Amino acid sequence: MKVAAIYGSPRKSGNSAKMLEAVLEEFPQEAEIRKIYLAEKNFSGCCAERNCLNLGYCDVEDEMQEIYKDLLWAEVIVFASSSQFGDVPTPLKALMERTWPLRGKLKNKIGGYVVSARRYAESTINTLRAFMLRHKMILGNTGAIAYTVTENGGLENDALAIKDSHKTGKRLVELYYLVHSKD
Ligand SMILES: Cc1cc2nc3c(=O)[nH]c(=O)nc-3n(C[C@H](O)[C@H](O)[C@H](O)COP(=O)(O)O)c2cc1C
Repeated sequence: MKVAAIYGSPRKSGNSAKMLEAVLEEFPQEAEIRKIYLAEKNFSGCCAERNCLNLGYCDVEDEMQEIYKDLLWAEVIVFASSSQFGDVPTPLKALMERTWPLRGKLKNKIGGYVVSARRYAESTINTLRAFMLRHKMILGNTGAIAYTVTENGGLENDALAIKDSHKTGKRLVELYYLVHSKD
């Protein structure tokens, strides 16, 4: 079981990261987990030069090249996102834009997400769902959302935040076995 855990917030150890850790606790010991902290990666959004349409891959030389390898390698991809100005933070949006050349290559990978927000998370959730559905990934469940969480913390204020993160992890594992049972 190959799992890519994408930490999408600019804050490496923030609320969404804690939620993602709770998701990962549900994976079996034999799972190979690659943790990718976008806050540590140096890459840009799509340059829209459209070279990838001819090449079949993105030739922009930045650290997205490592992320491409991880996304292609993974069988399960889990995103952690904060909500910034009502949507996913810039590094995560940049990653999404850069997956244009991966069209068709993420198909049937199992996808999940956790989101932490102070209050307005709807568009963040929609962006994550739309991204995974656009890539024809198999969306695990409704994910986990933490509300009333600020940069100072407060995960404990939302009883469902960590509980639903564990549920998300359990569902992703369940789906993995369902999809890979005939392998
Ligand atoms: C620049 C910025 C913009 C934010 N905008 C929103 C927002 O529009 N809606 C919201 O609910 N929370 C917003 N927040 C709050 C964060 O989403 C919230 O504190 C979240 O728990 C942070 O997650 P993290 O600890 O994983 O970074 C914003 C935070 C920052 C830094």
